[in-house]
Amino acid sequence: MKVDGVSFRTIRPDEAGRGVRVIDQTLLPHVFGTVRLETAAEAARAIETMQVRGAPLIGATAAYGMAFAMRADPSDANLDAARAALLATRPTAVNLRWALDAMAALLRPLPASAREDAAYAKAAAICDEDATICEAIGENGLPLILGLHETSGGAVNVLTHCNAGWLATVDWGTALAPVYKAHDAGVPVHVWVDETRPRNQGAALTAWELNRHGVPHTVIADNAGGHLMRRGMVDMAIVGSDRTAANGDVCNKIGTYLKALAAGDNGVPFYVALPSPTIDWTLVSGADAPIEERDGEEVSTIAGRDENGAVRRVRITPDGSPVGNPAFDVTPARLVTGLVTERGVCDASAEGLAGLFPDHARAA
Ligand code: MRU
Repeated sequence: MKVDGVSFRTIRPDEAGRGVRVIDQTLLPHVFGTVRLETAAEAARAIETMQVRGAPLIGATAAYGMAFAMRADPSDANLDAARAALLATRPTAVNLRWALDAMAALLRPLPASAREDAAYAKAAAICDEDATICEAIGENGLPLILGLHETSGGAVNVLTHCNAGWLATVDWGTALAPVYKAHDAGVPVHVWVDETRPRNQGAALTAWELNRHGVPHTVIADNAGGHLMRRGMVDMAIVGSDRTAANGDVCNKIGTYLKALAAGDNGVPFYVALPSPTIDWTLVSGADAPIEERDGEEVSTIAGRDENGAVRRVRITPDGSPVGNPAFDVTPARLVTGLVTERGVCDASAEGLAGLFPDHARAA
């Protein structure tokens, strides 16, 4: 996607060709800057601190982390150590495990001398594949928006949660890919952007990227979505996923479930856009999805830019009040209108997923 007219990916090889540059998402929306990663430890830290985040981008960064490890020491012991360190960074997004498994499956049978080059090539291929998959998600989701436009004749109001745009992937995004496709095709579209407390990925990241691309949007407090749906001001909701179970249950950013409940009560179609590496074929239902519990400081404090332009973090809860911070929730498949994937749109069910991905479903 473009930033001020210049095509950008969230992760790309650096000038020297052995490191990568990633957009530092902890600085957005106030500063657009990149940071260079060239060791497995740096890649792990970037994922842990959420300089990079979003399920597909976490996987892509971890793949490069493995390449950095193979450059430093291509032994079996280091392969295992790097894989374990990267896997421990964030528990919920299954794309992390998928990318590490793909890297390990390729590298382990190779002689140590061949591992570095093979690892870099595979990491680059994972990035390219993610961009291709996400663009296909956009193409497959476009008819949903177009259909709503043709019915109403007006702008289509789309509600989204968290950031499942191009910042969360290598390019295009998942939930926002159909929005970009629609906008670029001249279909009038407007996005209701949930702020997405506690880390505000909606207010900070989704709003930033929609703004840069020129897509009309409005940031709303997380609690506003139900009200807007009751007033008929939301035509469809579309979100991403961090782990989708084989039965179509969807694990995504905390608060997704509440939006799905409100959508269901108001007859608003609720779609989930996901690339196939987000499907955990070993997870029978969402009930067993690992839910990341994050630092309570994310809830008890909030960061923003003050009137002098300085970014500051301030406390918003009383000293001594305990806080909890589950970062993801599970939306049962029955509340999901459809899953938008690179192979098409299907029912959120075991049958729906198996219909689009018979090869994976059989192997699981
Ligand atoms: O904690 P984050 O910011 O990594 O969570 C991101 C999300 O929940 C996204 O919706 C999900 O990863 C899908 S991204 C295409």
